[in-house]
Amino acid sequence: MRMNTKVSAVQNDSNVCADIVGFDFSDYNDADIAAVRSYWLQYGVIRFRAVHITDQQQVNFSRHFGDFVIHPKQLQEGGHPTHREILVISNVMTDGKPSGALGNSEATWHTDTWFYERPPAGAILRAIEVPPSGGDTYFLSTYHAYETLPEELRNAIEGRQIFFQSVYDKTGRLRLGKSEPTSTDFREWSGVVHPLVRTHGETGRKALYLGGTREGSWIVGMPLDESNDLIAELWEHTTATPDVFVQKWGVGDIVMWDNRCTMHRRDSFDPNTIRIMHRTTTSGERPV
Ligand code: OGA
Ligand code: MN
Repeated sequence: MRMNTKVSAVQNDSNVCADIVGFDFSDYNDADIAAVRSYWLQYGVIRFRAVHITDQQQVNFSRHFGDFVIHPKQLQEGGHPTHREILVISNVMTDGKPSGALGNSEATWHTDTWFYERPPAGAILRAIEVPPSGGDTYFLSTYHAYETLPEELRNAIEGRQIFFQSVYDKTGRLRLGKSEPTSTDFREWSGVVHPLVRTHGETGRKALYLGGTREGSWIVGMPLDESNDLIAELWEHTTATPDVFVQKWGVGDIVMWDNRCTMHRRDSFDPNTIRIMHRTTTSGERPV
């Protein structure tokens, strides 16, 4: 397969990410896409440095990796004026209103839209404008998190499922289309149930699946105190890894991650500086 392509990968300073070289966004063939896909599956995160493509080229490229997923924020402040496939992440205010999602605040470790029945498989994030400092994005492998679990933790979660409430986002704002719950117990709110250990649909490898927050998560059937403690331990274990890829953005950089086997977070940055990113998102399987 790779015989017909000039595309190759160079692992950078972590096991989680490789830089893709030899891929031309304005002229590629099936073998090139197949090579990109295989590196994406192998590393979990791939990066294209300073490629300076257009929105339309990003949309075209994304199409090769599955159907588009519309992020809820795309229907709110994160909509793109001409490309409905693109989520705008931006801290720019226009007429006193945000002109993109996420603002300038820190985004803590998460996988994307974990509160969906079918969370996305992939995200392709492209830097349009970057601040002079801050706003870095960090990635870790949840294969690695699973594979390095101490035995007692691995036994404790064997065959377990995790419930994620889907009513409020991390900032406490009601999610699109949701209404205030009547119960004070989040376990009775609307939400989704996923396996705590998921098997990747394409690689067959097992990964720990913690979603996006400890709050509002419950290991189904476990007394709440016990579940909270176990979830805290799992988060601690996962986020303590030194094997983290740190993306320091330059304009035109593209990072593409596999949302089924990685987690990411973002630093905050000076609100008086500008950071604008365009993201496309591709659909994934229901976690099993
Ligand atoms: C995202 C996200 C981080 C960033 O797009 O899902 O978390 O660096 N973005 O903007
Ligand atoms: Mn994210």
